[in-house]
Amino acid sequence: MTTGSFPATRFRRTKTKDAMRRLVRETGFSVDDLIWPIFLRDGEDDETPVASMPGVSRLTVDRAVKAAEEAARLGIPAICLFPYTDISLKTELCEEAWNPDNLSNRTTRAIKDAVPEIVVMTDVALDPYNINGHDGIVRDGIIVNDESVEALVRMALAQAAAGADILGPSDMMDGRIGAMRKALESAGYQDVAILSYSAKYASAFYGPFRDAVGASGLLTGDKKTYQMDPGNTDEALRLIERDLNEGADMVMVKPGMPYLDICRRVSERFNAPLFAYQVSGEYAMIRAAAENGWIDGERAMLESLMAFKRAGCDGILTYFAPEVARLLARG
Ligand code: PBG
Repeated sequence: MTTGSFPATRFRRTKTKDAMRRLVRETGFSVDDLIWPIFLRDGEDDETPVASMPGVSRLTVDRAVKAAEEAARLGIPAICLFPYTDISLKTELCEEAWNPDNLSNRTTRAIKDAVPEIVVMTDVALDPYNINGHDGIVRDGIIVNDESVEALVRMALAQAAAGADILGPSDMMDGRIGAMRKALESAGYQDVAILSYSAKYASAFYGPFRDAVGASGLLTGDKKTYQMDPGNTDEALRLIERDLNEGADMVMVKPGMPYLDICRRVSERFNAPLFAYQVSGEYAMIRAAAENGWIDGERAMLESLMAFKRAGCDGILTYFAPEVARLLARG
């Protein structure tokens, strides 16, 4: 055998046993890297399974508090709230979005009362409250940017007032980060952080999420006039740079697995905390294959999370968060 430096170099020497593999492992992840997205519904002491996301349910406020307590027990640093909004509360102008007592704000307050140590992240986008299912206000079939930003700022201030630690603008309107940052500063919320959904693609992988928040049947058209074209990479870098300049503290790439190349490029270019969102469709695929016995679900879950860290992400939003945390706790 004369190829390369063999036998001086045998890569198998560092693979002989688990302890050896752990010793040379370049990437690791811990419970500190997890943000757990949960869905909310109205009512008391109840939950409704989301059919397209086995293992995930919409939780009433009291159940969401229990979830937050569990997260804290498991060491998960942050929980992220997505409300299912009854159709009767959805309007053209999305007024429910900045109602101080809407489901999301009530839940934030309840969690902050019960588990003050946990980080609560909220979603800033109009889609749960919009009769059109869009993230911005629709006028004559157009998603109007600047009027939407005004509404999003109102929504952000209501979430900050309820006690949210991190605001997650997922709407992709232009100028929203700067407008929100300015409004937060002048209202005295200088410590409220913004994790911008900066590089958010117009993706087919959001399907189960739209079921979960009750937006599926309502969406008129698609979100391609504001979410990114899957063919673009340079634009992601420009969006991240823009959002950081406007006052984002952390940035996100979304979806996750199909966009690991974007994560890698962003992490090499910027020093800001970077998150990937392993979205509902990614979760559903792993779960469905596992439930059919086609893949080992636990291993696929862990491998997928490792991939985000390897690509340079600091953390991951994942519906697997509690399951992973339990596994990690067991060692
Ligand atoms: C909308 C929003 C979406 C997700 C988070 N916020 C869906 C969309 O843009 O239509 C998707 C998350 C997931 O699929 O898990 N503001």
